[in-house]
Amino acid sequence: MLVKTPNGAQDIRAIWMENGVVKAINQRALPHRFEIVEIDNSEALAEAISDMTIRGAPSIGAAAAYGMALAAIRGEDMEDAADRMRSTRPTAHDLFYAVNLMLSERERLPGAADEYSDSIVARCKSIGEHGLDLIRDGSKILTHCNAGALATIDFGTALAPMRLARRAGKEFFVYVDETRPRLQGAKLTAWELLNEGIDHAIISDNASGHYIRADVDVVIVGADRIAGNGDFANKIGTYEKAVLARENGVPFYVAAPISTFDSSLLSGDEIVIEQRSPDEVLILDGVRVAPEGSDALNPAFDMTPSRYVSGFITEVGLLKPDELSKLLDTQ
Ligand code: MRU
Repeated sequence: MLVKTPNGAQDIRAIWMENGVVKAINQRALPHRFEIVEIDNSEALAEAISDMTIRGAPSIGAAAAYGMALAAIRGEDMEDAADRMRSTRPTAHDLFYAVNLMLSERERLPGAADEYSDSIVARCKSIGEHGLDLIRDGSKILTHCNAGALATIDFGTALAPMRLARRAGKEFFVYVDETRPRLQGAKLTAWELLNEGIDHAIISDNASGHYIRADVDVVIVGADRIAGNGDFANKIGTYEKAVLARENGVPFYVAAPISTFDSSLLSGDEIVIEQRSPDEVLILDGVRVAPEGSDALNPAFDMTPSRYVSGFITEVGLLKPDELSKLLDTQ
C-alpha cells in the first residue's frame, strides 16, 4: 500500500512479522499519526484485535495467524492460543479460517503465517483485477467503512479495483461514507484514497441516500462473513445502502476473498453480530455527545440478504449470488 508520511512515500503492508515480532500500522491513530506497533506475545496481539488497533476482516485473519505464530515461538499451548484469538471478535470469518488453518499447520509456524499473509495479498490483488471493469472513466462510486489495504494487508477488497483503476490512469470519484460510530470511512478510507490520488469526498452516513438516488453509478463494499446462500455481514449501515441501491437501480457489489466465505452457514440469519461498547456511540474522540443517563446500542455489523447483491468480486472472478458454489468448490 502506498503511504504518504512526513518522511515521504513508502510502500508498506498493514501487518507483517520481523525477527519474531509482529509489526502493524496502528489503525486507531490514523489519520492524525502514522505509527507502527510492535507486538511480541499472543495476549497483546489478541488485545490489538479486540481494541481495533488491527481491524478489517482479512487483516484480522492475518493478525490471528501471527498471534498463533507468536504462541508457537513461545511454546504455548496452541489450543489455548486458538481460543484466545477466537474470543476477540466474533463476526469476521477470516479470523476463524486463519486460526483453523494455523492449527493444522502448527509444525510450520511462523512460516505458515507469512505464507497466509502473502496469499491474502495475492487474492486481494486478483479481486482488484476482476473488479477493474466495474470502474470506468468518470464513474461515481460509493463505499462504506474501510475495505482497503489497512483492512486486508495490501490492496483491499472493495478498494482494490479502485486502486488498480487509478494506477491504470482512470479518473473517477468516490463517495466515502463516514461510517459511524468509529468513522473508518472518514479516518481510514479517506486516508488511503488520498495516498493513492483518488478523487473523493466524505459524506455523513445519512447523506448516502441523497447521492445514491441522484449520482452514484455503483456501490462497492467489503464483507466480514458471507453465508452459503450469499447473505453477508458487513459494517453496520451496509444493509440500508444495499436497499437504497436496489430502489434506485444502482448495481451493488461485494468484494471478498475466499477466507470470508462461511459455507457452514445456510443463511445470514446464522451470522453472529458483534455488539460493541455503547461508549463508541456516546463518546466521539473523547468527548461525550449524548446526555449523561442516555444509553446506546452498538451493533458493529448488519446482515444484507443476497437478493440485493449484483455480484461478488472474488479472487476467482465476478460471481452472481447463485454462482457461489463455484467458489466454495475451491475451498
Ligand atoms: O469493525 P471493522 O472496522 O473491523 O469492520 C470492517 C468492515 O466491516 C469491512 O468492511 C470488512 O471487514 C471488509 S474489509 C476488507
